[in-house]
Amino acid sequence: MIDSDYELLDNIIKRYDGIEGSLIQLLLDLNSELHWLSKDVIWHLSQRIGIPRSQIFRVASFYKAISLTPVGRHRISVCMGTACQVRGAERLLDTTESRLGIIPGQTTKDRNFTLNRVNCLGCCAIGPVMVVDDDYHGRMNSKRTEKILNALGAE
Ligand code: FES
Repeated sequence: MIDSDYELLDNIIKRYDGIEGSLIQLLLDLNSELHWLSKDVIWHLSQRIGIPRSQIFRVASFYKAISLTPVGRHRISVCMGTACQVRGAERLLDTTESRLGIIPGQTTKDRNFTLNRVNCLGCCAIGPVMVVDDDYHGRMNSKRTEKILNALGAE
């Protein structure tokens, strides 16, 4: 971690200073800012709030919303539900994989992108669907995928 990361970490920890039972919210806030919690972050947190690392790891690993592995600045999810597959989701995934050089579950070396495949997102009518960070993109095709990835600085 760099100095500014420690500063950010300390500022978030201060929000919950003295608030009983706030570990989960604290971890969620940290995850939201840092995108994932490294061993260094957990070690520092443990030192600052006086809760054993093992306990923090246990809580963090229980919640799917908290990541203990690196996650890119941009999270891309391609829906591979049946309706999206029928409408070309496989091509979208191929385009994204080859453009980023990663497969689902991986993060690019520059930590810019994490790619995932997901099941039905509940908006089949606009399939195939891709979620980029928190934005849903419907009726996707390879050309639009390239455009989005370019806008986000994919190499
Ligand atoms: S199958 Fe993709 S949104 Fe339902």
